[in-house]
Amino acid sequence: MGRDTGVNEPIPVLDLGPELEAIWSEVSVVASRVLRSGYFVGGPEVAGFESEAADYLGVKHAVALNSGTDALVIGLRALGVQPGDEVITSPFTFFASPESIGILGASEVFADVDPDSFNLDPQRVEDAITPRTRALMPVHLFGRPADMDAISDIASRHELAVIEDSAQSFGARFGPDTRYSGLQTGSVGHAGAFSFYPTKNLGGFGDGGLLTTSYDGVADRARRLRDHGSARRYENETLGYNSRLDALQAALLRVKLPHIDANNDGRRVAARHYNELFEGVEGVITPEVVPGHVFHQYTIRVTGGRRDAVQAALGEASIGSMIYYPIPCHRLPVYADRGISMPVAESLAGEVLSLPIWPAIAPSAQERVRDVIVGALR
Ligand SMILES: Cc1ncc(COP(=O)(O)O)c(C=O)c1O
Repeated sequence: MGRDTGVNEPIPVLDLGPELEAIWSEVSVVASRVLRSGYFVGGPEVAGFESEAADYLGVKHAVALNSGTDALVIGLRALGVQPGDEVITSPFTFFASPESIGILGASEVFADVDPDSFNLDPQRVEDAITPRTRALMPVHLFGRPADMDAISDIASRHELAVIEDSAQSFGARFGPDTRYSGLQTGSVGHAGAFSFYPTKNLGGFGDGGLLTTSYDGVADRARRLRDHGSARRYENETLGYNSRLDALQAALLRVKLPHIDANNDGRRVAARHYNELFEGVEGVITPEVVPGHVFHQYTIRVTGGRRDAVQAALGEASIGSMIYYPIPCHRLPVYADRGISMPVAESLAGEVLSLPIWPAIAPSAQERVRDVIVGALR
C-alpha cells in the first residue's frame, strides 16, 4: 500500500513514481544493455516482447507497433476493412477509436453506450447495422471489459469482423458470468489493439502499441503493413506504414510485464476503497468493481449538474482529476456536420469525473479526495 500523503500535499491524478522506483535497478541495467547493443528498431527484444505478450494475453500472435492508434488502423486493414465500409464503435471513447476508421476511408458509425458500464450497448449496435457494416470496434473503456458475449453473437449473426480497442485494458479479464470467463480482453475478437502510452496500465517510456490476433493471415498482413507493406526488404507489395516498435521500448516493457497483474490488483483494491468511501454519498454514482476490471481510470458520475464545481474544489485542494471525455466523439468538430444524437454519451460527458488512481495510491489520499468531494456537494 502507498505511503500516506500529508494534509496539504498535492495529489496528482496519476503518480508513476512508485511503480518506476520498484523496478528502477532493472530498468537502468536493461536500458544500458539495449543502448549498447546496436539494435534500436525491431530485433530480439521486440521478438521477445511479442512472444511474452502473446503468452500473457493468450493469443497466437502479438505484433508490436508504434502506437495504439496504429494498432487500430493496421488491425482494421489487416482484417480487410476497405474504404466505403462501415465500422461501428462507441461515441464515448478517445478520438483514436473512430479516427482509425475514418483514416482508412471507411465510415465510423456510432452506437450509444450503456450508462453503467460506459461501454457499447449491444442493442444500439444491432440497430446501427446496415448492409455496408463490415466490422465492430468495442472499446473496453477505463479497463472494464465490454459485453463481448453479446457483441460476438451480433458479429457472427451478421458475419462481421471484431477488433477490440483494448488500449485501456491491458490485463483485464472477462468475468465468471460470461462465455469468455477468465480470458483476456483483446483475445476474443478477430484482433485486439493495445496502447503502451506511458499513462496506460502497461505503460512504456514513449509511444508503443500491439496488435493481437490468433488468425495467421491477420498477423501476417499486420507484420507487412508495419514495415512499409513488405515481408522482405525492398520488395514492397502494398502501401504500408513505418510502425515498428523501438527495441528500447520493447525491452522496458518486458521488465514491466511480469508486474502487470500485481499492479492491476492494486488498482482494484483502490477502486473498492473509493467505492466504500462514497457509499451513501448523494450525488455520486460509483463504478461497479466487476471481476477483471483493471481500473485504468476510476470514474464517478456526479449528478445534478455539480460535476464542474466538484472538479474546481478538487483543483483548489491541489488534487488532480480529469474529465474523460468532455465531448462525445460524434459531437467533436471533425464530425459536427453529422447532427446525430447519442443521449447516453452526451449525458455522461456532463457527469463523469476521473479521480486519482494508481496501483499504490495511499488510502489516506483517497480519503482526502472523498472529503473534498463531499464538502463540495454539501
Ligand atoms: C480507447 C483508446 N483507443 C486508442 C488509443 C490510442 O492509443 P495511442 O495513444 O497509443 O495511439 C487510446 C489512447 O489514449 C485510447 O485510450
